[in-house]
Amino acid sequence: MSCYEITGGCPLSGSLAVHGAKNSVLPILAACLLVPGQCVLHNVPNLSDVSATLDILRLLGCRADREGDTVTVDASALSRSDIPEHLMREMRSSVIFLGALLARLGRAELSYPGGCELGPRPIDLHLSALRALGAAILEEQGALVCEGGRLQGRELCLSIPSVGATENAMLAACGCPGLTTIIGAAQEPEIVDLQEFLRAAGVQVSGAGTPAVFVRGGTPLRPAEYRVMGDRIAAATYLCGAAAATGEVEITGVNPDTLTAVLVCLEEAGCTLHTGPDRMVLACSAPLKGIAPVRTAPYPGFPTDAQAILMAALAGGEGATLFVENIFDSRYRHVDELRRMGADIQLAGRAAMVSGVGRLHGAAVRSTDLRGGAALVVAALGAEGTTQVSELHHIRRGYQELDRNLRALGADIREIP
Ligand code: UD1
Repeated sequence: MSCYEITGGCPLSGSLAVHGAKNSVLPILAACLLVPGQCVLHNVPNLSDVSATLDILRLLGCRADREGDTVTVDASALSRSDIPEHLMREMRSSVIFLGALLARLGRAELSYPGGCELGPRPIDLHLSALRALGAAILEEQGALVCEGGRLQGRELCLSIPSVGATENAMLAACGCPGLTTIIGAAQEPEIVDLQEFLRAAGVQVSGAGTPAVFVRGGTPLRPAEYRVMGDRIAAATYLCGAAAATGEVEITGVNPDTLTAVLVCLEEAGCTLHTGPDRMVLACSAPLKGIAPVRTAPYPGFPTDAQAILMAALAGGEGATLFVENIFDSRYRHVDELRRMGADIQLAGRAAMVSGVGRLHGAAVRSTDLRGGAALVVAALGAEGTTQVSELHHIRRGYQELDRNLRALGADIREIP
């Protein structure tokens, strides 16, 4: 089992182009199922979650090939509508295939995705959205059997702006004759990216990025070529890394407007930021200061995916910051690991009080989940001494060549077997 060995204290400098967004490319790959032809996607990151998604596409009868960061998917010969349990277990977000399979084949069968390392992740909103569109869904012995014989565009309402449920409803709506209106939709930039892909494939869809999304479905989709947006959470990770280690870095390939909630926190903590179209420059020369409470919230609020990463940077700074995690129940599993590095963090339910200790120290720590693992790397970049971060499979779900990119920015990080 390999780990990253990181010796902290090297200031970061230089420029880095961030890879395509994991949270965007997975629903877009599922959307390729809707097209009876070949789609070409650019800026597709090489991540284990993407490989798992391509495996599912192949199992369903699609051709899926990668060349560099371009992936070609041909779903002309889509033959199966069931996803076996072992593939569902590998990636909880594969529930996104439900809407796409229903729209294209009128049927989908998959095992119940269950919980994950972030705690229970219910799919009731996904199912009620699909039912509202006319799908008949049977939940029996851990399996979901969905029949879409009477799909029809309608108005549906999400009681929580769930990213996954909004995407599933948009994909299913493509197969529903008439107009579907999704009220209470999530407004994340990744939803806008899905909309732009669907438009490229000929779907009449609008409203993404606002709480009401409109899809006129029931007409065949056409082959599309599309470039996936940059990964705003990967960008936040590199920025927090530079904030923890000090230095000056330029991050390109991500629209800074999609990261405002994180950039505001980094500025308040003492970093200097300059932004331009698809670029951000962060400079930091002193220990980070404590900031006003950070409360995770649906977009445009502070992203839950950046909570652990910012916490790791602030834990090695000076001053206190209160975090409140409002999206997921078990999203503080990185805290015990940060404590091994000397962090002072008190937990009480959804709240975490971080008191900066001036500088963390190196330790042997374990990634507990994707962003928790990235947070440990951020902490290690600013820590005194050497840190070993293990369980890298979590990190590889969402970061392409994290170690190589950080090395190019001047960090002392290497992967050791
Ligand atoms: C969430 C994040 C998303 C992030 C992704 C990966 C938010 C709003 N969403 O998306 O930004 O990229 O994790 O880490 O921050 N819920 C239900 N029933 C459902 C679906 C969701 O109760 O059927 C609840 C969840 O428990 C959670 C909230 O809704 O409390 C938001 O979940 P959702 O947006 O669906 O999560 P993801 O799509 O996984």
